[in-house]
Amino acid sequence: MKKKNIDWGNIGFGYMPADKRFVANYKDGAWDEGGLIDDPMITISECAGVLQYAQTCFEGLKAYTTEDGRTVCFRPDLNASRMADSCRALEMPVFPEDRFLEAVKAVVKANLAYVPPFGSGATLYIRPYMFGSNAVIGVKPADEYQFRIFVTPVGPYFKGGAKPITIRVSDFDRAAPHGTGNIKAGLNYAMSLHAIVDAHAKGFDENMYLDPQTRTKVEETGGANFIFITKDNKLVTPKSDSILPSITRRSLMYVAEHYLNMEVEHREVFFDEVKDFAECGLCGTAAVISPVGKIVDHGKEICLPSGMEEMGPVTRKLYDTLTGIQMGHIEAPEGWITVID
Ligand code: PLP
Ligand code: COI
Repeated sequence: MKKKNIDWGNIGFGYMPADKRFVANYKDGAWDEGGLIDDPMITISECAGVLQYAQTCFEGLKAYTTEDGRTVCFRPDLNASRMADSCRALEMPVFPEDRFLEAVKAVVKANLAYVPPFGSGATLYIRPYMFGSNAVIGVKPADEYQFRIFVTPVGPYFKGGAKPITIRVSDFDRAAPHGTGNIKAGLNYAMSLHAIVDAHAKGFDENMYLDPQTRTKVEETGGANFIFITKDNKLVTPKSDSILPSITRRSLMYVAEHYLNMEVEHREVFFDEVKDFAECGLCGTAAVISPVGKIVDHGKEICLPSGMEEMGPVTRKLYDTLTGIQMGHIEAPEGWITVID
């Protein structure tokens, strides 16, 4: 497969249209057969449910080129089932999980030229999404929907790649108690836009959101879950009903326990404890693991002992093991890798 002439090592996390995308339409209570199309543009009613009442959800996963030249995807079944959960919570019709997996394979296969080569530092980001497409003016779910998948080659989510970032404790909430924080609804990201623009304007890379009810517990950032490493080498990850169940975080918990013999705690994490951790990172499909060097709470700085120069040693081991599994040079647990080509 001849790859596109792209400067793979220097791309950021942006959108670059590839050749093909998948689309299926839901009408009169059923999904059509769907298929691959060329046109990246969408025409819908000015009154579409997605435009008026934000009825939309999405997923994010990646395809990788392995050292031996295969193209693989990481745990797409978990994206399929999380998207089904998002759809149910937003009164949208589920796109059947087996069809979701077939569509992911088809769209990656149709865009193999855009899957970055092994060792380039880039990957192919896959974005499945669904939205209410017909006109709704009273507040109610749409009757018609589109399910789509596009792909785009991406580099690191944070400029500087593995360099530690500085985050701040946000005064804004991204999710309400008993709300939609645990699903991948577009509206959660709209909620975070003002907070991220404000954070960037003040020199921070990201926001740490605390639990909206008591503001005492760590939740997540706008696009990633947290991992913490204790001084005695445990992996601690925040548990909350209002954060997204990250597939990367769930995978890291397994990797820590079964590959690195670490103790793992998935529990409520009080903000007061953060100053005592040895390392902190953000984890997600886009973020992979981005180390956090400093957390600023209204002027009070928490400087992680791992510093601002490089990833802490335990975060590094987790990163190397996870990416080794994703890129095919460390044996994956059963079912984690789907071979596309
Ligand atoms: N939390 C939020 C709010 C996200 O948008 C994402 C990205 O998908 C994650 C966490 C990480 O989830 P995953 O590891 O499944 O990509
Ligand atoms: C992902 O990691 O897939 C996400 O959806 C995060 C997003 C903020 C890019």
